[in-house]
Amino acid sequence: MTKAKHLTKVTDINKLFLEQAINEGDIVVDATMGNGYDTKYLAHLVGENGFVYAFDVQEEALKSTKKKLEKDEITDRVELILDGHENMDKYIDKKVACVVFNLGYLPRAQHMIITKPNTTIKAIEHSLNLLKPHGIVSIAIYTGHPGGEEEKNSIYDFVENLDQNEFSVLESKFVNQINNPPQLILIEKKMEY
Ligand SMILES: C[S@@+](CC[C@H](N)C(=O)[O-])C[C@H]1O[C@@H](n2cnc3c(N)ncnc32)[C@H](O)[C@@H]1O
Repeated sequence: MTKAKHLTKVTDINKLFLEQAINEGDIVVDATMGNGYDTKYLAHLVGENGFVYAFDVQEEALKSTKKKLEKDEITDRVELILDGHENMDKYIDKKVACVVFNLGYLPRAQHMIITKPNTTIKAIEHSLNLLKPHGIVSIAIYTGHPGGEEEKNSIYDFVENLDQNEFSVLESKFVNQINNPPQLILIEKKMEY
């Protein structure tokens, strides 16, 4: 497992927070499995007593993720689900420590299959309901592809209106990087009050 050592990408920053929030034995969700890098990373973080639910709408994503998990002999602690993250409430009935979104399209695959505002917001809503206190939803947002800017705007409309008594919402972005650098939104659920 690669730990975050530098801060050159928002995914490095993401790791700092995920490693704080996730303990061995936790249940976590990879809402956008893609090529399985995040699924594998999360599966190592939760350890053999933890569990990862991973979603994607493309068969190709499940295939390449399965291969990575088999190589590391960690398939038992992961369920790979061929369905949209907007349906995650149908698969998960336990509280989770974290839900990770890495939005946009699957690199090297069909760029038409992208995450979309309506389903992304629905999935974020489900994620917030599933979170345990101090759990985190992390959302890496990309705006360099058609549709990316619209998705970003609808996410901001949604998260800016979350009640600050219930959730802390943080944004991170490298402001001196060119070519639409990705940005990160982290939402932490506060203690129940
Ligand atoms: C940027 S990639 C994810 C990268 C991945 N986390 C990794 O480690 O390789 C975004 C993924 O979201 C998937 N996706 C698109 N719409 C989705 C939906 N409604 N539910 C779940 N995944 C979706 C795409 O098929 C694509 O594989």
